Amino acid sequence: MNQKLLVVCLCFSQLLQAQPDAQTDLRKVIDNDLKFAVQQYHVLMNTVPADSMPRTYNAAADRLVTSNLEWWTSGFYPGTLWYLYEFSGDASLRKAAEQKLSILEKEKYYTGNHDLGFMMFCSFGNAYRITKDPAYKEVILTAAQTLTKRYRPSIKAIQSWDSSAAFRCPVIIDNMMNLELLEWSAANGGENQLADIAETHANTTIINHFRPDYSTWHVIDYDLQTGLPRAKKTAQGAADSSSWARGQSWGLYGYTMMYRFTRKKSYLMQARHIADYLIHHPNLPADKIPYWDYSVPGGPDVKRDVSAGAIMASALLELGQYTTGKEKKEYLDVAKTIIVYLSSPAYLATPGKNGGFLLLHSVGSIPHKSEIDVPLTYADYYFVEALLRYKKWYLKK
Ligand code: GLY
Repeated sequence: MNQKLLVVCLCFSQLLQAQPDAQTDLRKVIDNDLKFAVQQYHVLMNTVPADSMPRTYNAAADRLVTSNLEWWTSGFYPGTLWYLYEFSGDASLRKAAEQKLSILEKEKYYTGNHDLGFMMFCSFGNAYRITKDPAYKEVILTAAQTLTKRYRPSIKAIQSWDSSAAFRCPVIIDNMMNLELLEWSAANGGENQLADIAETHANTTIINHFRPDYSTWHVIDYDLQTGLPRAKKTAQGAADSSSWARGQSWGLYGYTMMYRFTRKKSYLMQARHIADYLIHHPNLPADKIPYWDYSVPGGPDVKRDVSAGAIMASALLELGQYTTGKEKKEYLDVAKTIIVYLSSPAYLATPGKNGGFLLLHSVGSIPHKSEIDVPLTYADYYFVEALLRYKKWYLKK
């Protein structure tokens, strides 16, 4: 066999090995990942101070980076601990999760941003789902009520950030994720008004945030007087006109989740259109882990955003529940591909390394030169969620 042919054959066989197909393989991959995650989070748990939350890991300094409780990511670590407790029954994970909820609870009154859904539902939502402890439900319902304080009737949306030199009344696509707190609360003893606000916000976002190709702007800056957008911008993307990768994943997840609660066709259609845009995007790499912005031509030096891939996988698995035939298969194939590649050494940490985080190579914000090519709590959270969703929905018992 000549040299060239040998190289082609080797590459082809590597591709075949990496390519997900048989379900039995995926069962093994998922089980190994979850067992690994339990062990790895014990490593992380040993380094987290009692009064703060993990945020990322500084590999050069071998140092955990933490956040305070008002930071938007404060719910992901306890949420992941609950998911891993659910999988393993390991009481020490539950104990760690309970300790974190005890310090997080006071944020149910926090009105400083729109992130209460991320903060309080990923954490207390999972805690209540698993334990049915009514005290957790009370926290969720209070947090939902608090979030409504940021609803602005004139723009028919929830204001994301306070006004600043850059923006007057900014609403970001990420905000779709916070609606889960409102929808769940309305369906579980809270006022109907919570769902009304969530749906009004989601409808406004369909009108103002999306371009004709179903990509989304990151930030819409509204005029509170006229109720209309005054500018369409980015904060974390490559350009105002670009498709910031995590924002696209938030949109996909957000509308899929809204369909779960409302069964409104417009939300399902929106999610399907977004999925179509992402899955067929010419800049989506073969392993389906997006570059940090879809509008940036790819290449070996361009950063991936593993968090965007993990969120997309979890969302596509849910969208697969609401679709059939070829379309469903396409969503599941992409989700499978993401899971299999995230489970490979290219993206998954070596046991005991990476500060105890699961995944490598996420991006917080390139324009702010912050958290570039690092582990992040939300990448881990949505990865574990995707593993559990796949196991629950698509693997035979
Ligand atoms: N919600 C902030 C972010 O996705 O970075």
